[in-house]
Amino acid sequence: MKFEKIQAPKGVREYLPPESTSFEWVREQLITPAKRAGYQLMELPVFEDTALFNRGVGESTDVVSKEMYTFEDRGGRSITLRPEGTAGVMRAVIESNLDRGQLPVKVFYSGQFFRAERPQAGRYRQFYQVGIEAIGIDDPSLDAEVIAIADQGFKNLGLKNYRLEITSLGDAQSRAAHRVDLMKFIATLDLDEATKMRADINPLRIFDDKRPEIREQMSKAPLLLDYLSDNSRKNFESVKGYLDALGISYVVNPRMVRGLDYYTGTTFEFVHEGLGAQSGIGGGGRYDGLMETLGGQSLSGIGFGLGVDRALLAAIAEESVPLASFTSDLFIIPLGDENKGFALSLAQDIRRAGKSAEIAFGDRSLKGAMKGADKSGARFVAVIGDEERDSGQLELKRMSDGTVLSVKIGELLSVLEN
Ligand code: HAM
Repeated sequence: MKFEKIQAPKGVREYLPPESTSFEWVREQLITPAKRAGYQLMELPVFEDTALFNRGVGESTDVVSKEMYTFEDRGGRSITLRPEGTAGVMRAVIESNLDRGQLPVKVFYSGQFFRAERPQAGRYRQFYQVGIEAIGIDDPSLDAEVIAIADQGFKNLGLKNYRLEITSLGDAQSRAAHRVDLMKFIATLDLDEATKMRADINPLRIFDDKRPEIREQMSKAPLLLDYLSDNSRKNFESVKGYLDALGISYVVNPRMVRGLDYYTGTTFEFVHEGLGAQSGIGGGGRYDGLMETLGGQSLSGIGFGLGVDRALLAAIAEESVPLASFTSDLFIIPLGDENKGFALSLAQDIRRAGKSAEIAFGDRSLKGAMKGADKSGARFVAVIGDEERDSGQLELKRMSDGTVLSVKIGELLSVLEN
């Protein structure tokens, strides 16, 4: 009987060797600046109570209204695969009372997120983010630091062709003043019912509408940046001042709309120029009301999510991904079954001493095994026959130039050191 092959679900992104090495490199480059700034790992479930995202992310968003993977579990509870990380972090912070200790709570996370979007290059249904959240302190210098950490991650990747866009959504007073005028303006437009309904929940969403006729109409809409209260304006000026001092360039984009409803104050996006339509490689901002909305105290927070898949695509486009793949210090070829045990323990000793070793498995000819050693890129190769095993004297072939060194087992590690 012949079984049919099973394929990966549509729109998921997976990383297999050798590409997975590049993926891992990108993820580490993005995480490193956060670790160096004192952010600590938070490892969270990939599924949560659906109410968390309905309430936290907002019902007017595409993410909640169209893109969530929601299902009933065996206990009849509504569960959703996390479409983003901030709501889950906030849930965990509240649940574990982390916000009753030292502030800000500073955490980072990395992992899979799920959105049922139409798949295309750079847009997947399962994608990866590295994110940080700093919760409990409202201070423009923290906003600048969070942006700087994201920026450093992209710089670590060697990226150059990206820009940072920032704006401010102000405080509640600023948004209320703007909302009145924006609603009045929107009421004069020719909109379909669904769009009107979205506008009622969050009128800023209409700035994000991709349809040309709506874009055209919105070109004259009042901008929130012109409605900032004195406090919000000062705050935004400070953030920009700190970024200037850090040498981080940015453009102010007063029409930026983030895809999630919890944002307030400073918001930002990193846009890469070489990625076509899916150009957002990261984004984030401050969220004043999220903790309270999720049943916690009223504390502000700020964070970002960086798209690891897109950052990798950007690094490939800019040819900044190192070509390194795994190569071992020593490739061991045992001759015959009686030398396999010796090869295993030799490899174990080498690995315990912090060096890497691979073994030729199976019963290939010496010629075949040598070919494998060559392909593996190992620095040295040792063939272990009865004589080598009994005498403890090995012949090491240096693959870069073919030189053969005669080495005692006891001296092997010092040779591999160099
Ligand atoms: P977001 O802008 O929705 O923000 O996502 C952050 C990044 O994830 C995007 O800039 C993009 O690079 C990547 N991304 C999003 N959707 C996809 C997709 N379908 N395929 C590939 N990559 C994707 C958030 O998720 C917020 N939680 C960020 C944040 C943290 N704000 C405050 N704290």
